[in-house]
Amino acid sequence: MQPAQIVSLTLRDQHPRAVDMREEILSGLRTAQKTLPCKYFYDTRGSKLFDAICELPEYYLTRTELGIMETHAANMAAALGADVLLVEPGSGSSLKTRPLLDHLSRPVAYVPVDISRAHLLDAANRLNRLYPDLEVLPVCADFNQSFEIPTPRRRASRTIMYFPGSTIGNFEPKSAIQLLKRLRRLSGSEGGLLIGVDLRKDKTVLENAYNDSEGVTAAFNLNLLQRINRDLEGDFDLARFRHHASYNADEGRIEMHLVSLDNQTMHIGEECVRLRENEHILTEYSYKHTLTGFAVLASKAGLAVQQVWSDDRRWFSVLYLSAV
Ligand code: TRP
Repeated sequence: MQPAQIVSLTLRDQHPRAVDMREEILSGLRTAQKTLPCKYFYDTRGSKLFDAICELPEYYLTRTELGIMETHAANMAAALGADVLLVEPGSGSSLKTRPLLDHLSRPVAYVPVDISRAHLLDAANRLNRLYPDLEVLPVCADFNQSFEIPTPRRRASRTIMYFPGSTIGNFEPKSAIQLLKRLRRLSGSEGGLLIGVDLRKDKTVLENAYNDSEGVTAAFNLNLLQRINRDLEGDFDLARFRHHASYNADEGRIEMHLVSLDNQTMHIGEECVRLRENEHILTEYSYKHTLTGFAVLASKAGLAVQQVWSDDRRWFSVLYLSAV
């Protein structure tokens, strides 16, 4: 019998501390419009539910983006050049990265960055087995806070930040510009940014993507409360909330909420949280951009669009940006 292959991956752990999570969650629940930070969706169960969302028939985003990656990977790899250091903030299962890794010429290393430790290690181990010659350097961190990119063994020609999944859409324009600036700085003056951006389309298509018939998105949204119960000694009753997602055409965004079904008082440790019947906790925005709108946003972050790849229906886009 073959001995099991032992893959030694060193995880750089820069995960936010539990006290910070508590403070952040409480301060979000104390504002007039209650909010919960979306990064806390991704505990182990949340990451699994998210992977299930990506496979839903209604959730066109992942399938469409993967199609674009598969069709144009060779082209993208040519644009990025040889010997790059590829860094992916919010890497999750690193599913969409594979076509790129298959085509990149002598990539120096791949740095997946994710807040979900177990999920990150899983994905990194899988990639390690699939690409034995590639140095994989996982970093467990909230990419929205500063994190350090580990130094690879081999010197890279440039750093490319890969930011797929329309994760940029989960930021309001002001924060999106701040984040793009940080990504630009992290990639350096010679670097670039390969980013997936969901585009505006028919309202029904959009709303169905965030209100799937199997209720997986609802479970994903509600899992945030479950996590508060577990990690922060909360007593939210999930049965007294419902998931709601609708498209706000004026703002060009999906708005995701947890709606309180009645007047209720919950606790997080010693702290009280009160909700009225029908009061909404905002959990996430998902902005849908136009290509011109996004180019303007990018330019405010000092980035210029070099190339755009899209699908036949123009539902999703992958853009290559570099510092101006
Ligand atoms: N960024 C993707 C989107 O906005 C994925 C995503 C983030 C998502 N949070 C989500 C999808 C919550 C569904 C529900 O679509």
